[in-house]
Amino acid sequence: MTLAQWYLSKVPQYTRMARHARSVIRHATPRKVANLFRVELERKLRRVELKGYPYLLIIDPCNYCDLRCPLCPTGYGGLGRPQKMLSLEHFKQYFDPVADYLFEATMHNWGESLLNRHVFSMIEYAQSRNVGTNLSTNVSGSTTGYLDNLLECGLEYLIVSLDGTSAESYSQYRIRGKFENVLDNLAEIVARRNRRRLKTPVVEWQFIVMRHNEHELAEAEVLAKKIGVDLLRFIPVGMPFDTVDRKAVAAKWYPVTVQGRAYTPDVELQFGQANKPSPCFYLYRSLVVNPDGGVSPCCVVYNRATDFGQLPVADVRQLWNNDRYQSARALFSPREASRWAPTVCEGCDIFEKYPKPARRGAGPSGATGAGESGRAPGLIQIKGPAARERV
Ligand SMILES: C[S@@+](CC[C@H](N)C(=O)[O-])C[C@H]1O[C@@H](n2cnc3c(N)ncnc32)[C@H](O)[C@@H]1O
Ligand code: SF4
Ligand code: SF4
Repeated sequence: MTLAQWYLSKVPQYTRMARHARSVIRHATPRKVANLFRVELERKLRRVELKGYPYLLIIDPCNYCDLRCPLCPTGYGGLGRPQKMLSLEHFKQYFDPVADYLFEATMHNWGESLLNRHVFSMIEYAQSRNVGTNLSTNVSGSTTGYLDNLLECGLEYLIVSLDGTSAESYSQYRIRGKFENVLDNLAEIVARRNRRRLKTPVVEWQFIVMRHNEHELAEAEVLAKKIGVDLLRFIPVGMPFDTVDRKAVAAKWYPVTVQGRAYTPDVELQFGQANKPSPCFYLYRSLVVNPDGGVSPCCVVYNRATDFGQLPVADVRQLWNNDRYQSARALFSPREASRWAPTVCEGCDIFEKYPKPARRGAGPSGATGAGESGRAPGLIQIKGPAARERV
């Protein structure tokens, strides 16, 4: 085990670090680096009003999907937001004001991005502005007609969602998904990229470990080597923020034999923790934009009623420091917002709140009402994140 691997095994919550580090190195400019240090210092100091800009963008090209995954709000029809395709024009309008600070743009959130064929132009545009891109896809439909676009648009990192090594287990979560298609598409992407000697996209097979597929992990390692993916990544299953009966969901989906964390060079096994003892990093680093221009505080919540703002705006820094952003950051800080506003973050237990006397009107706020959900923190701390988390 190299020193780097040992280090990663000690800080598994940062196992996306390699990808982020690559983006920082590849897309650094003096302005971006200065902003990165400023933001991280502001986070360390638990500032509520920021001088820095977000340096990661999560932008959703569409929130439609061809699959019906039972724990995805898009899959079960619980998004609480109109479904839309993002146009290239709107993409540029939302992207441009923060482009000079971005290292990376995540080109998915609550839908199947490849259903929006403008996504390749969006990726090309982002790359041309010196911003790295990544995209997660179920790649379950036919890729005929756009596979070359996917390889040629400049995408740096591709995540293929494939949770199982058999059609039987795969289809339990990926309802309507076609296992054979995904497998063929994954193999074809890797083969075609290699044939053309392209360095990107790096191809990750992402496997969500659940009760019905936890017996297939070893087989996945063998298959991953055979296909030649760059990384097989096992991730913990999360439940939607709005889940009411969390115990029942955990009982049905959480794995029983797989616990804890481990890291090997090409296989990562990671389980999230609730109540991370740090201020929520989304509120400092990430601008999260939905196809309707709504700005969510993170990629864990999805309901339009929990949005922190609406794009376009004349001044993105004003939005970034509006009452909601300041109030949410103040939950993790000894400082207070200049004007308190209720936010969905009050009912979220992913990051540990700063101990303070009760706030005005403290309690669950947004329409998701996570705090009212009867969430059992003890249950979550045993294993698995409080909700889907992506870094
Ligand atoms: C909502 S999906 C959108 C992208 C694309 N449709 C896909 O599934 O890859 C975003 C990410 O969440 C992951 N995901 C879906 N359900 C999940 C769950 N219950 N727990 C953790 N991650 C999940 C997907 O695999 C994907 O990487
Ligand atoms: S494929 Fe992705 S967006 Fe579609 S339902 Fe499943 S997790 Fe949600
Ligand atoms: S809901 Fe939770 S994870 Fe999302 S921004 Fe608020 S505190 Fe952070």
